[in-house]
Amino acid sequence: MGYKIAVAGKGGTGKTTLTGLLIDYLIKKGAGPILAVDADANSNLNEVLGTEIEETIGEIREDVSQRSLSGDNFPGGMRKAEYLKYKLNASVTEGDGYDLIVMGRSQGPGCYCYVNGILKAQVDSLSSNYDYIVVDNEAGMEHLSRKLIEPIDTLFLISDCSRRGVQAVGRIKQLVSELNLKVGQIFLIVNRAPEGKLNAGINEEIEKQGLNLIGVVPMDQMVYDYDSDGKALVNLPDNSVCRSALNKILSKIQFKSK
Ligand SMILES: Nc1ncnc2c1ncn2[C@@H]1O[C@H](COP(=O)(O)OP(=O)(O)OP(=O)(O)O)[C@@H](O)[C@H]1O
Ligand SMILES: [Mg+2]
Repeated sequence: MGYKIAVAGKGGTGKTTLTGLLIDYLIKKGAGPILAVDADANSNLNEVLGTEIEETIGEIREDVSQRSLSGDNFPGGMRKAEYLKYKLNASVTEGDGYDLIVMGRSQGPGCYCYVNGILKAQVDSLSSNYDYIVVDNEAGMEHLSRKLIEPIDTLFLISDCSRRGVQAVGRIKQLVSELNLKVGQIFLIVNRAPEGKLNAGINEEIEKQGLNLIGVVPMDQMVYDYDSDGKALVNLPDNSVCRSALNKILSKIQFKSK
């Protein structure tokens, strides 16, 4: 089984940005094959990585259910399950040093859980082929509570510089212990800190929530510029404020492949 890293936190705190840069960090460290998982219905990890995605799992689900409903045959005389498997295998995007699978979404009520279930099965079946599995979660606790990936070796909680952001990740940490989720180590990263500094109130909240702060990533104008120009953030120079701070944080952590 590959080493599993998950990233979680409140909406808009920088989860996807930091997940993309983390994947790039592992690649540049010469890590073995990496499976990147975009577990957000509103997927955008590919934009940070600078790659076009193949079909999302949500789209595949939609296609399979449309074919079933309309009585269309599956191509090549395949059965439904075979066709689903074939499409899922074809949907793995091959990037430079990583493969990417994307949850996406399908339409209609009740589909969300189903897509989640397919994603979980897909991650489980692929994980032994990779040294690392890195999962970008959508905001909130849904995937953790559904045990999309378990066990997790390292869980990064991302917060912005707000009490509410810190409280939100505090609740995630609490959920991990309430549900007895198997998580090896949990680290807090505070992102987008003005001048890379935390004020007393935020430090106090971090302590109150019992979070293990591993580092602070400053607000970086270059991230903003790349983002608004539609440039992939993995192309940020190594000396960019955000990237160099993150790399320094990551270099403190032992990611050991089993
Ligand atoms: N250190 C930083 N400095 C400046 N801007 C940043 C920094 N980190 C992230 N951003 C910007 O903040 C915005 C939100 O980032 P991102 O999409 O990574 O957050 P998210 O937590 O994944 O959001 P969501 O909950 O919607 O998935 C983006 O526009 C991103 O470019
Ligand atoms: Mg995101």
